[in-house]
Amino acid sequence: MFNYFEAASSMIKEVGVKPEVALILGSGLGYLTGEFQGGVSVDYSKIQGFPVSTVKGHSGRFVFGSFHDIPSVAMEGRFHFYEGHEIKDVVSPIYLFKEMGIERLLITNASGGINRTYSPGDIVAIKDIINLGFRNPLIGPNDDRFGVRFPDMSSVMDFKWLSGLRERLSRDGRELKEGTYIWALGPSYESPSEIRSFEFLGADMVGMSTVPEVIAANHCRMKILALSCITNMASGILKEKLSHDDVVGTANRIRHRFSDVVGKALEVLKEIGHE
Ligand code: HPA
Repeated sequence: MFNYFEAASSMIKEVGVKPEVALILGSGLGYLTGEFQGGVSVDYSKIQGFPVSTVKGHSGRFVFGSFHDIPSVAMEGRFHFYEGHEIKDVVSPIYLFKEMGIERLLITNASGGINRTYSPGDIVAIKDIINLGFRNPLIGPNDDRFGVRFPDMSSVMDFKWLSGLRERLSRDGRELKEGTYIWALGPSYESPSEIRSFEFLGADMVGMSTVPEVIAANHCRMKILALSCITNMASGILKEKLSHDDVVGTANRIRHRFSDVVGKALEVLKEIGHE
């Protein structure tokens, strides 16, 4: 079995940074590590027993460094269930972060907008999730060191962090949209009828990631903020066909705005504390 503790301590020793915040960077959002000061990277392939990312736009490495003056680690490339990984592997970085002593997790992703008040290029804070993948990473024996057998899921996001960010952005006259994210397994995009039914279920945006990581991070009581880049309107809402290149293209187009919002989320931590 993968030894999280050993992997975490040897990586911290090797890179000489003890991170306080972990970031998961979604499709087309890996560029954020370019802003890390003194960045040191560790390829996933160098970590024995760790999964390897296979998607275009996800390079597959950890980057350690100082981000907005906070020691941080980012995942450039995450693991998706549709790649064929076991659900436990999808969330292995979360437990690795926990073993590094990290209590704060900032998740980013790309998603399709279902809520018609959204537009491609919007940045939306995820306030709740729907596990339509019906895969739960906590199935199997519970590791009591990390968390309880039946974790509460009534408020998975850190509302103090989220409201701090909302307030911070409103000082600049900017609104932070919020919504519910639904996990569709992928890798095919959804059909228009599926999107209509997700809308009926209360989803505002759809994507192929994030929900397993949120369940695992909530299990080990990490404080989570999740920001989604609406890269396209979901299937059937507009006449356009969906493509991964367009998803990455939109994420790239708004990179300055996205990195500004992520930066502000880190600034908020300086006001409310990192722990
Ligand atoms: N559906 C699922 N995942 C996505 C989408 C989408 O429309 N856009 C970006 N990731």
